[in-house]
Amino acid sequence: MVLPNNHMSSQENIAGDLTARDGANGQHPSTSGFPIERVRQDFPILARQVHGKPLVYLDSGASSQKPEAVLAAMDHYYRTHNANVHRGVYAISEEATAALEKARVKVARFINARQSKQVIFTRNTSESINLVAYSWGGANIKPGDLIITTEMEHHSNLVPWQLLAERSGARLEFVPVSDDGELRLDIYTELLQQQPKLVAMTHMSNVLGTINPVKALIAQAHAAGALVLIDGAQSVPHMPVDVQDLDADFYCFSAHKMLGPTGIGALYGKKALLEAMPPFMGGGDMIRTVTLRKSTWNDLPWKFEAGTPAIAEAIGFGAAVDYLSALGMQAIHQHEQEIVTYAMEQLQRVPELKIYGPAAAKRGGVISFTLGDIHPHDLASILDQEAGVAIRAGHHCAQPLMERYDIPATARASFYIYTTRVDIDILVQGLLKAQQIFHF
Ligand SMILES: Cc1ncc(COP(=O)(O)O)c(C=O)c1O
Repeated sequence: MVLPNNHMSSQENIAGDLTARDGANGQHPSTSGFPIERVRQDFPILARQVHGKPLVYLDSGASSQKPEAVLAAMDHYYRTHNANVHRGVYAISEEATAALEKARVKVARFINARQSKQVIFTRNTSESINLVAYSWGGANIKPGDLIITTEMEHHSNLVPWQLLAERSGARLEFVPVSDDGELRLDIYTELLQQQPKLVAMTHMSNVLGTINPVKALIAQAHAAGALVLIDGAQSVPHMPVDVQDLDADFYCFSAHKMLGPTGIGALYGKKALLEAMPPFMGGGDMIRTVTLRKSTWNDLPWKFEAGTPAIAEAIGFGAAVDYLSALGMQAIHQHEQEIVTYAMEQLQRVPELKIYGPAAAKRGGVISFTLGDIHPHDLASILDQEAGVAIRAGHHCAQPLMERYDIPATARASFYIYTTRVDIDILVQGLLKAQQIFHF
């Protein structure tokens, strides 16, 4: 990308304008009572600068930032309890095991799983989905069986089903997306008449922000005799999720999108399903007995957790869940709804900006957009270099959705508990400036 000479003004100027408008002396005004200033102070990275400007982090849909409490919990584990789990009979190994299993209980409570053994620790959402595709799919999907997924899926909830279909001879069908970024529920209803074995769909689109009415869709699938896997990578971090109330058969999510570390995620499953499923990977910890020719399997959840688990990461995951619970998931959702509503209003001020997806009331804190003929990658680079704003650009691991809207890529701003209206204002100013840079 080549930048023309008339650079945008510094972010100090932009922030100065905004400060004047908000009358907040550089403070980040809260959305209806949400303790935004306190929250922001918990995230050390938000104090840093990039390219000489304060970081404005608008890429939480890709990965969230981490609060002090999560960093401290992992640090404390390594400093005081570090040992392998489930094997040692000495004090620190027992402490490490207890901390790992306590984290599982916290994660299970967070999604209201009936029992903590229904929560399998995986590496991330992708691995959780692959686990189900290999283990449950391998045992249950036969040639000609139908799996329904949707046009708005992340590749993580598409490719594993393509692989399963290739291995098993199953068929795949897709619920299309409307121009407004919502699932075509009329076609979903029609597809269910073909008696699918499985429906795999996202709770919230990482591109359009659309929150799908999964409770009703699960009930419909069950009535048609199908099981349902929900990709909760974008929902669990941002809204209350109750897997029992939803009646999901499988529910998948990643810690790194919800204040926790990378390298750990979760698969929730109904107990009877998990118990009937064969192991996904073989190795230490997942066995009960091993002879040279045959092995038997450990109980849930360890049957699916071969090898040394991500112990510090699980503990960090538990700390993340504690942090979110203390704030309250309903309050977090409300805060993000207010931010996304404000952002959609403010983005109207940018000529030629096109937003994809539904109205603010039907979406979470994600906005994908294009700006005239400026390539989203160029837009993201300008925002980074000139305004310290981190947004994502590309196909967002949703190439079929890009094809649906006949675009190669979008820019995407995504929000979280630490996002403020000032962040949105800086984004808008940056976009207006980018337009100047490209068109004059
Ligand atoms: C909707 C959705 N599903 C799945 C994933 C994959 O998550 P992970 O990379 O943590 O496996 C993502 C990540 O962006 C996502 O947004």
